[in-house]
Amino acid sequence: MSLQTDNIQKLVERRASARLGGGPKRIEAQHAKGKLTARERLELLLDQGSFEEFDMFMQHRCTNFGMEKEHPDGDGVVTGCGTIDGRLVYVYAQDFTVSGGSLSKTMSEKITKVQDMALRAGAPLIGLNDSGGARIQEGIDALAGYAEIFERNILASGVIPQISCIMGPCAGGAVYSPALTDFTLMVKNTSYMYLTGPAVVKSVTGEQVDHEQLGGASVHAAKSGVAHFAAESEQDAIGTIKQLLGYLPQNNLESAPYRETADPSGRVDDTLNGIVPDNPNKAYDMYGVIRSIVDDGTFFEVHKAFAKNIIVGFAHMGGRSVGIVANQPAVLAGVLDIGASRKAARFVRFCDAFNIPLVTLVDVPGFLPGTQQEYGAIIANGAKLLYAYGEATVPKVTVTLRKAYGGAHIVMSCKQLRGDINYAWPSAQIAVMGADGAVNVLYAKEMKEDPQHAKAIFDEKKKEYEELFSNPYQAAQKGYIDDIIEPRNTRFRVIRALEQLAGKRQELPAKKHDNLPL
Ligand code: HXC
Repeated sequence: MSLQTDNIQKLVERRASARLGGGPKRIEAQHAKGKLTARERLELLLDQGSFEEFDMFMQHRCTNFGMEKEHPDGDGVVTGCGTIDGRLVYVYAQDFTVSGGSLSKTMSEKITKVQDMALRAGAPLIGLNDSGGARIQEGIDALAGYAEIFERNILASGVIPQISCIMGPCAGGAVYSPALTDFTLMVKNTSYMYLTGPAVVKSVTGEQVDHEQLGGASVHAAKSGVAHFAAESEQDAIGTIKQLLGYLPQNNLESAPYRETADPSGRVDDTLNGIVPDNPNKAYDMYGVIRSIVDDGTFFEVHKAFAKNIIVGFAHMGGRSVGIVANQPAVLAGVLDIGASRKAARFVRFCDAFNIPLVTLVDVPGFLPGTQQEYGAIIANGAKLLYAYGEATVPKVTVTLRKAYGGAHIVMSCKQLRGDINYAWPSAQIAVMGADGAVNVLYAKEMKEDPQHAKAIFDEKKKEYEELFSNPYQAAQKGYIDDIIEPRNTRFRVIRALEQLAGKRQELPAKKHDNLPL
């Protein structure tokens, strides 16, 4: 065998060994937990044959607690780039079979390298997390490594889309990298995220709770809102990442890809003319409206299980990617509360950072009253949404379907807060408050002084109020909305508005950064 052949043979063997990570036994253990290995995950994620791996031979440099005896190639993370549907992405996948995917200084160097490359190339970064946290044997080196990753998450925020998928443990400070990225996915039953695990919780507070109850996918998707998606399986999670990317541009200087559709822009839907019930206190399902107006009825929902009184997600309209924000009258009457405000504000800011126009569908009775909301700072949280819409410079098209009362009307992308084109259905009611509440405030004294005629006074004044405000004509008269449209025409009117706004330019005043009410 020539020296050259011998060298090549060694390389082939070394690569094959590196690809096995922690070895067959640990791979088996990983599979037994219902989890795939880092490489199997990347294979599912990336277009076939597109993966370009970096740093396969990097090793840890730890000399404590027996670590000096083993130096597996690659050290607990697989990094590189590849394509998804032909579009470049950078990736890292922690390999639980090597020291439980724990973060060594070497691992952080591999991850920060792809973070830097993604930022330079203007391509999305996807992290597949499966890790026992900081590599205990490395001490401060591991902590320093996390800080370097976090720094890059922050610098890349608003420049390239960053997606984190949690496919195993993610504990301690390690949770903060996903929290800094744009979208977090979790896999039900096999992943969990928390700052302190069940044992620490028990010793500090006495509370008894298991991994799943403390930080499982369902908990973070529905209760904390930390996870935007809770996937049924790893395959499902990877499929969701691919779908999500289809709505996003590569970076903040590009537009999201155009998607061909056979769905005519001029399609009208007569069912929309009858969707709003005559009784203003009766609910209807906003999903029906969304699916009716978007291309092919396809809506990709984000944060589905969290704050269901508001709906956010992506769709295409006339081939363009749009962000939809819609109050949901079928849940808590579509009221704005702390969760809904936070959820929608974050979504609006993402769309604005990445040039995705916003379509807002309004049916909101106001902000949720009560001590729970006030003590939880609904004032500051509601202001987040107000701020997000107000600062957004992407095209903004708003349709008011029914109620738009009080501060909630202003918050939901009204014309005076830099909404670009605002339409209303004939069923719209744009007012300071609903008729009952208004009459009770304005005529309380009269009704109290004349209890015999209180009901008659109430009915008469309510009628008067409804004639004046329970319709969109007053707002239209004053130019506060641009047009009153027939519900059946909503799709083509919104698409035409988006076409009109495609070249929109709007600047913010020069500043170091804003001081939004965090
Ligand atoms: C070094 C670790 C490790 C770690 C796991 N391993 N976590 N090695 N540092 N943090 C190793 C184990 O020793 C074991 O090695 C292998 O990975 C698999 O771990 P198991 O315990 O056998 O797996 P499992 O039963 O599935 O349990 C997984 C686990 C548990 C729940 C994650 O390993 C665990 O509790 N690990 C410690 C978690 C932790 O407290 N991390 C520090 C968090 S603080 P062998 O050789 O036996 O296969 C933190 C600070 C970050 O991260 C701050 C950032 C700002």
